[in-house]
Amino acid sequence: MSSAPMLDVENLVIRYRAGLFAPRPKPAVNGASFRLAKGETLGIVGESGSGKTSLLRAILRLLPVEGGSVRLEGQDWLQLKGQALRSARQKIGVVSQNPYLSLSPRLTIAEILAEPMLAQGQRPSPSMRRKIAGLLSDCGLPADFLERRAHELSGGQAQRVAIARALALEPGLMILDEPTSALDVSVQAQILNLLSDLKESRGLSMLLVTHNLKAVAHISDALLVMCRGDVIEFGRAEEVMRAPTQEYTRELLSFGLRVRQRC
Ligand SMILES: Nc1ncnc2c1ncn2[C@@H]1O[C@H](COP(=O)(O)OP(=O)(O)OP(=O)(O)O)[C@@H](O)[C@H]1O
Ligand SMILES: [Mg+2]
Repeated sequence: MSSAPMLDVENLVIRYRAGLFAPRPKPAVNGASFRLAKGETLGIVGESGSGKTSLLRAILRLLPVEGGSVRLEGQDWLQLKGQALRSARQKIGVVSQNPYLSLSPRLTIAEILAEPMLAQGQRPSPSMRRKIAGLLSDCGLPADFLERRAHELSGGQAQRVAIARALALEPGLMILDEPTSALDVSVQAQILNLLSDLKESRGLSMLLVTHNLKAVAHISDALLVMCRGDVIEFGRAEEVMRAPTQEYTRELLSFGLRVRQRC
């Protein structure tokens, strides 16, 4: 295993295209830099519109970047193409906010969990079936859920399936954009605990965007605070919580997103 960090992002600039008659917009992300060590979780917080999703989407190569670099385990990730890109993509598992939108209503849970492996060219087999049951059980669901469909699950159960699917190709990095925001408050902590357990048992690295500031501070090794496209704080989670360098971060951690201070 290489000793390079899981992710090394330098001076990343993301700017959406202007509308037909609109002036050139400001960058949605204005020179973001951070590192994510292997086996660690980086919590990304900041008010709505601060650029969190844009940052994740650019790292997933779903958005073009205007400048900067992203190295994934030392590889120049933004330059990869073709087969090299397809196989490197397997290193990243993705979980989004709404499990009902991300899971096909037509497929059974078994088919949903098999999909990434089938897409890779693997054939259905007893060992694939065992693997799928294992993924489901690692995510806290019993094997008899395999023949259900997503609409027959609660929000928390559906999000567990989405997490299991993201793990199907055994990624080293998980990218999660508000994985608990669509869930009942009572379920949010259970999902965050599951993520924390998976991180330990599988040695996962995670980029976790959430509005749940108290929780993210607890499960993150490092914290990154964004405001209007800028990274205004990045450091070890205990350090940022104990001694934030910005008044905005102090308020964010004390008052949540009802923060009065502008960055
Ligand atoms: N497809 C798009 N086209 C143009 N501008 C966009 C697009 N998506 C986002 N933006 C703009 O980019 C900025 C950052 O948006 P982004 O979705 O990254 O914020 P966010 O931090 O994820 O917010 P939220 O917490 O509400 O999800 C915002 O000003 C937003 O209006
Ligand atoms: Mg967002």
